[in-house]
Amino acid sequence: MVKSKKIKNICCLGAGYVGGPTMAVIADKCEDIHVNVVDICEKRIESWNNDNLDKLPVYEPGLREIILKKRNINLFFSTNIKEAISAADIIFVAVNTPTKLDGFGAGYASDLKYVESSIRKVAQYSVGHTIVVEKSTVPVKTAKIIKDLLNAVEVRNDSNLSKTFSVLSSPEFLAEGSAINDLENPDRILIGGEDELAIESLKNIYSRWIPTEKILVTNLWSSELSKLVSNAFLAQRISSINSISALCEKTGAKINQVSKSIGLDNRVGSKFLKAGPAFGGSCFQKDILSLVYLCKYYGLNDVAEYWESVVSINNWQRNRISNLIVETLFNTVSSKKIALLGFSYKANTNDTRESASIFIAKDLLKNGAVLSIHDPQVNPKQIKNELGIEENENYNENSEGCWSYFQNLYEAVKNADAIIILTEWEDYENLDWQLIYSLMRKPAWIFDTRSIISSKAAIKAGLKLWELGKGYLN
Ligand code: NAD
Ligand code: UDX
Repeated sequence: MVKSKKIKNICCLGAGYVGGPTMAVIADKCEDIHVNVVDICEKRIESWNNDNLDKLPVYEPGLREIILKKRNINLFFSTNIKEAISAADIIFVAVNTPTKLDGFGAGYASDLKYVESSIRKVAQYSVGHTIVVEKSTVPVKTAKIIKDLLNAVEVRNDSNLSKTFSVLSSPEFLAEGSAINDLENPDRILIGGEDELAIESLKNIYSRWIPTEKILVTNLWSSELSKLVSNAFLAQRISSINSISALCEKTGAKINQVSKSIGLDNRVGSKFLKAGPAFGGSCFQKDILSLVYLCKYYGLNDVAEYWESVVSINNWQRNRISNLIVETLFNTVSSKKIALLGFSYKANTNDTRESASIFIAKDLLKNGAVLSIHDPQVNPKQIKNELGIEENENYNENSEGCWSYFQNLYEAVKNADAIIILTEWEDYENLDWQLIYSLMRKPAWIFDTRSIISSKAAIKAGLKLWELGKGYLN
């Protein structure tokens, strides 16, 4: 039997969408383990510690209940990185790995500066033997960089000061909006590594609530690469179905019927075949571009081109929606009020990173539109950051359009020429279409990019409707 190290204290570097929920679930499942989640961002930590649970930095169904139960019991949020690292038996690195914006590899490669700076702190402050787990999504061979950084400070002989490390990869597969359920009931847990004792120690944490047959052990590089490939495959399905949505609109085929037909084939499967306004989120595009960069680095240019086309189709899908809206509204949206429903990149999250709404809103603003934006979880400050312009409800002839935020959806649609549904929030499924129609300027249009509304009810109320993958319905 392989021995394992008894884990009493965990540190997680990075209190974001992965670090916060993941550690909350570990703390919930392992009440004998003290879990410290630390971050360099004071504001984020303050929000995690806020008494008002509506102010948590991450909105996830089920998260606030765990925070309420575990915070300051065995789950702690702090900026004291030094103390948390020194006390830890195991350290999860869940810092951001965005696409590099400039320099070598710009536009494709993952920026590993946050990984490097956090590992340097681990090297500096750790005490005794520490297991370091890559939770962040990283390019293949990052574990080698981490090992090199840590090996540079390893001290093996002096019993008081001895510092040693084991490096594992255990990428996270949670999806936002269902993170707690994904963490509690994952399809699989991946552990990549060489050190059996460290692997067993990590397994012992997960196996408190996850059946051992779901815990897959691989070598480091397979684990790192599997995460990138997993996201690339999921995104590829979305680009595939989105490309077909345009063909459906031209031919009279209906995208939901095509999705269902192909998904019923067990070899294809039904998930991730929902056409939409293009995938968003902080992961898909970044991870495919990272894969493309790796392929190019290893001279596999055809493979790189193949995967890059998944991102190209995604950009194309957003553009074609903006163009179609302008064309439909008599080729101009200048000074026209358009209600944009949904700003997060998917339902049940307050995350807006790479949301299709940002790109479509920017296109319409460039065309002079007056946007009224509604979202149940995203606040106007976030919208301002994403659009890069201040909120301003007063349209100015010389401006490139303007936007304002509405908490009340029915206020947002008042005098609007069109409504665009961009996020599949449940709130948008059953709206009072008669009231909405009476509030809008005529002809009143609705563009449903998520196919969530009752088309019959909207048409009956008098609205003109375009639905993604079906086209103009009346
Ligand atoms: P995030 O931006 O929400 O959080 C990252 C946090 O790390 C930030 O709060 C940042 O301040 C902190 N940080 C940066 N450098 C630090 C340091 N040296 N020490 C301590 N904290 C530091 O990012 P996220 O969405 O949680 O993603 C984290 C990683 O997990 C990324 O690699 C991402 O690709 C991957 N991932 C994300 C998701 C997701 O759904 N968001 C899912 C799976 C994997
Ligand atoms: C994704 C992966 O699913 C997850 O495993 C990984 O850990 C992180 O990246 P996430 O981006 O949070 O998760 O959400 P996901 O549900 O994958 O949706 C991503 C985007 O694709 C969203 O904009 C969503 O609206 C879109 N999507 C998803 C579709 O358009 N159609 C679908 O069928 C599924």
